[in-house]
Formats: sequence, C-alpha cells, structure tokens
Amino acid sequence: MRRFRFAKTAVLGFAGLAAITLFAQDDKIARGKYLVEEVARCQDCHTPKMDNGSFIKSQWMKGAAISVMPAAPIQGWRAAAPDITPAGAIWKRWGDDGLTAFLETGKSPRGAKAGAPMPTYNLKREDAEAIVAFLKSLQ
Ligand code: HEC
Repeated sequence: MRRFRFAKTAVLGFAGLAAITLFAQDDKIARGKYLVEEVARCQDCHTPKMDNGSFIKSQWMKGAAISVMPAAPIQGWRAAAPDITPAGAIWKRWGDDGLTAFLETGKSPRGAKAGAPMPTYNLKREDAEAIVAFLKSLQ
C-alpha cells in the first residue's frame, strides 16, 4: 500500500514536471516570436513581400530581396537577406548553438560580422535562445 502511494506520487510528480517543461518551452517560443516580430522586426528584411507591400505569410523568414538602398553608398550593402528558418543553409551550417552565439556576439561561428543592413545584435543569452526557439518552430 505504502509502496503504491509512493509510485502514484512519483508518477504525478513526473507528469507535473513534464507539463511545466512544455509550458516553459511554449513561453520561450512566445517570447521569441515577440522579440522577432515586434522588437527586432526580422521579417522586414527576411520575409518577401507582394507588390502591394504586404508580407507573403507562407514565406515567413524564408529570405528576401532587400527593398531599400542607402541614399549614400554603404560598403558591403547586401541585396538580399537569407532564409533563417531551420530549412535554410545558415541553420544547417551553424545549428542552434551557432545561431544563438551569433545573436549574442554579432559574429558568425567563423568570427565574421554580417553585411549591412543586417544589424549587429548583442542580445542577452536568454533573448537569443528565445529567438532561436521561435525560429526553430517555423517549418
Ligand atoms: C534591416 C534588415 C535586416 C533585419 C531587420 C534583420 N536582418 Fe538578418 N540579415 C539581413 C541581411 C541583408 C543579411 C545578409 C548579410 C550578409 O550576407 O552578410 C542578413 C543575414 C542574417 C543572418 C546570416 C548572417 C551571416 O553572417 O551569414 C542571420 C542568422 C540573420 N540575418 C538573422 C536575423 C534575425 C534573427 C533577425 C531579427 C532578430 C534579423 N536577421 C534581422 C538583413 C536584416
């Protein structure tokens, strides 16, 4: 009887922990979505637009042509922003850790900064991780 009660408590305990872990992951993705879409606005450069200027939602973060040019030349200005979903080449080369470090340090795993107009982010680790969790949820 006593052993049974222990087993029941243990099972409930594990189920509770699993639920907390799942909710925590949902929170992280929601925070990442907020940082990506409302604060950093990654989509402004990484999502293609239709002729009327609205985003092609099915291509969210799948890479796009840069639609603005600087009034005076800026060295290294790029014409396009790459696919930053898990299906893209960058994610495959860098992985979660490489992307997280890039958002924290502004440098790729090879130590290079991205070309303009990609901003150099120096985010806190938890923010970088939340962004990576959100991007990872885009398939
Ligand atoms: C103002 C436009 C702009 C915004 C906003 C922007 N990007 Fe970029 N991003 C670019 C461009 C342009 C490149 C290509 C840079 C290059 O080729 O060196 C790029 C490249 C990247 C790369 C690859 C870097 C490399 O060295 O190859 C990653 C990863 C990335 N962006 C992630 C993000 C994330 C995540 C956000 C939002 C938190 C974001 N970008 C916001 C324009 C932008």
